[in-house]
Amino acid sequence: MATKPSSRQSASKTPIDSLMKESRLFKPSAAFTKQANAGSSSIYKEAEADPVKFWEQMAEELVWKKKWNKPLEWKAPDAKWFVGGTLNVTESCLDRHVLVNGTTRRNKAALIWEGEPGDRRVLTYYDLFRQVNKFANVLKKFGIGKGDVVAIYLPMIPELVIAALACARIGAIHSVVFGGFSPESLRDRINDAQAKLLITADGGYRRGQIIPLKHDADVALMDCPSIENVIIVKRGEFLLRVKEGRDHWYHRHMQEADPWCQPEYMDSEDPLFILYTSGTTGKPKGIMHTCGGYMTGVHATTKLVFDLKDTDVFWCTADVGWVTGHSYVVYGPLSNGATQVIYEGAPDWPDQDRFWQIVEENAVSVFYTAPTAIRAFMKWGRQWPDKHDLSSLRLLGSVGEPINPEAWVWYNDVIGHGRCPIVDTWWQTETGHIMITPLPGLIATKPGSATRPFPGITAAILDENGKEIKEGGGYLAITKPWPGMLRGIWGDRQRMIDTYWSKWPGIYFPGDGSKIDTDKYFWILGRVDDVINTAGHRISTMEVESALVEHPVVAEAAVVGIPHELKGECLVAFVTMRSGMNQDERLLGQLKDHVTRKIGALAKPEKIIFTADLPKTRSGKIMRRLLRDVAQGKVMGDTTTLSDPDIMKKIKRHYEED
Ligand code: WT7
Repeated sequence: MATKPSSRQSASKTPIDSLMKESRLFKPSAAFTKQANAGSSSIYKEAEADPVKFWEQMAEELVWKKKWNKPLEWKAPDAKWFVGGTLNVTESCLDRHVLVNGTTRRNKAALIWEGEPGDRRVLTYYDLFRQVNKFANVLKKFGIGKGDVVAIYLPMIPELVIAALACARIGAIHSVVFGGFSPESLRDRINDAQAKLLITADGGYRRGQIIPLKHDADVALMDCPSIENVIIVKRGEFLLRVKEGRDHWYHRHMQEADPWCQPEYMDSEDPLFILYTSGTTGKPKGIMHTCGGYMTGVHATTKLVFDLKDTDVFWCTADVGWVTGHSYVVYGPLSNGATQVIYEGAPDWPDQDRFWQIVEENAVSVFYTAPTAIRAFMKWGRQWPDKHDLSSLRLLGSVGEPINPEAWVWYNDVIGHGRCPIVDTWWQTETGHIMITPLPGLIATKPGSATRPFPGITAAILDENGKEIKEGGGYLAITKPWPGMLRGIWGDRQRMIDTYWSKWPGIYFPGDGSKIDTDKYFWILGRVDDVINTAGHRISTMEVESALVEHPVVAEAAVVGIPHELKGECLVAFVTMRSGMNQDERLLGQLKDHVTRKIGALAKPEKIIFTADLPKTRSGKIMRRLLRDVAQGKVMGDTTTLSDPDIMKKIKRHYEED
C-alpha cells in the first residue's frame, strides 16, 4: 500500500474540530472603545427594541434624492426597504466627498493601487469622481442605460471600481465576473443575465503570469449574442485581437468623454447589481441587490465594524469579483470617504512578505482578509511579517469561512502584536453585508467565534422543525428582514424561494450550520448543503460533477469536500470511467485541467479517484456522505441503504491504494 495521501493527514486536524476549544476572552481596550464609532452598548439595546428604526437611522447617513415614506414592507420572502425613496448611490460614494462645500476629502486618496509588477497609482476622490463620470458617459454613448446589464471581467485595477460605479451612475446593473473564471463560466453568466456590453482588459498579472482576459473573453463571446460592444482596458502590452465594430479601447473613449454625468435617480428598490454565486445545482445563481437597502447595510457595517475614520487606511484584500470586494472595496469604504489600498496580485509574489510590505509602505491601519490566507501566512512563517513595521495596524478582520482558533491567535499575535481587535465577520453573497460580527469596541472576542449579530440583525439556531436551540448546534437562521438581503435570483424566483425560504416559514436559511454558547456567541461551522467553501471560494459539488461528466472518458462523477489545512476544505472527485478506458496519471492531469477549463482553477479537485462504481441508494441517489467518510479516512457510515453494500469496501480499498 502506498503512503497516506496528504489530504488525509490534514483531516485529523480540521479547522472546525478545534472550534470552541480556545476559552480565552479578548476584551477591547478602554482606549479602543473610547475612540470607536460604536462606543456604547446602547446601540445593541436600541436596535433590538426597534430594528427598523435603527436601519432608518443608518439610511439617513446616505445621500437621498427623495426620502422614503415607509421604511419597510415585508411579506415573506419579499422585502422592500425605504419604500418611495430615490437615490443614486454614487452620490454617497463620490459627489458628497467632492462637491459639497467644506469637504476636506476632495484631494484625499480614495484608492491607492498597487499592480503586481510593482506599478502604483493613487486616485483622489476628485480623480475617481471624474473618471466615473467620464466612463458613465462612455457607457451611455454605447447605448447603455437604466436597467441594462453590463458584464465586467477585469483584473484588480482601479478601472474595475470605476466601471462598477459608472454603471451605478447611469442605473445600469453590473454583473462582475471574477477574472479567475473560465471563458465558459463567463459565457454562462453573460447569457443568463443577457448582458449588453462587456468590459474587460487585455490582461492582468497573477504570480508573475499573464492572465489573458481578452483572449478568454473572445472565446466566451463566440456564444453570447446579447453582447453588442466590448470595452477593453489596456493594462499592459498584451497581444490581442480587436474585432472591428465590436471592440473599443477604454482609453480612447475616455479621452473625449465629458467629466460630468447627471446621476440617474433610482428607486430604493431598483437593482444595483447581480453577482453570481454557486448553489447546490450545476447552475450558478444571479443574486440580486438593490440600491437603497444594500447601500444602507454596507455603509453602516463598514463604519461600525471596521471603525473607519478619515485618518485610516483600509485594506480589504478581496477581489471585486466576489461580494466582499463589492461591499468592502467599492461601496462601503467609498461611501464612508475612506482611503483604501487595492492590490492586483498574489500575496507571495515576488516574495511571501508582499502583503506586509504593502501594509508598511502605505501605513495600512485596518486590514481585512480570509482565513485561508492567514493559514498560508502561518505556514510561510513569521519571519516574513517580522521583516516589516506593522505598527500602523489597529484593527484586523476575517471573512469567508470559519477561522480556526490557531489561525486567529496567530493573526492576533504575529500580525496584530496583541494590539488590534479582530472582527470575524460572517455573511454571504446573499446577505449583501456583514451579519454576525463583533463590534470592535464593544464585544469581547473568542478565537473562532463570529460572536453576535450586528445591531438590527436577528439570528438564531434552529432545528429541522424550526425549534430554537438555546445552547448547542443546529442550523443558522436569520429571523427578520434586513436591508441588504437578496431580492431574488435573476430570472428564477422559484429557486430563490426553494433555496432560502422553504425550510421554515418566513425565516431565511443561509445553508450554514452553527453552534451557540452560553454567552449567546455564534460559532459558524460551515455549509450544510452540497456547497464547498474552498480557499474562501464557494463551489457547488454539482457544478464540478457536471464538468467532469462532460469529459469523454468519464461516465459518472461524485464530488465531495474534505478538510484541508490551508484551504479549509478541498475537493475530492470520485470518477467512474466509460468502458475500455485506461486510468493513468496522464488522464488524472487531463481531468483536472478539464475542470479548470470548464469552471476555473478554483474548482480544480485536489484529488481524483477512479472507481468501478459509486455508492447509490436503491433509488439511484449518489451517497456523497459515504464518499466523504472514505476520503477522510473515517470508518464507514451506515451502508445498509446502499444498492450494493460491497461497493464501499472496494472504493475504500481503491482510495487507500491511490
Ligand atoms: C459562505 C458565504 C461573505 C463574503 C465571502 C464569502 C462562509 C463567510 C464566514 C465566517 C464562518 C463564513 C459561510 C457562508 N463564511 N464568512 N466569518 N465564518 N463562515 O461569500 O461566497 O457568498 O460564501 O461563506 O459558509 O455561507 P460567499
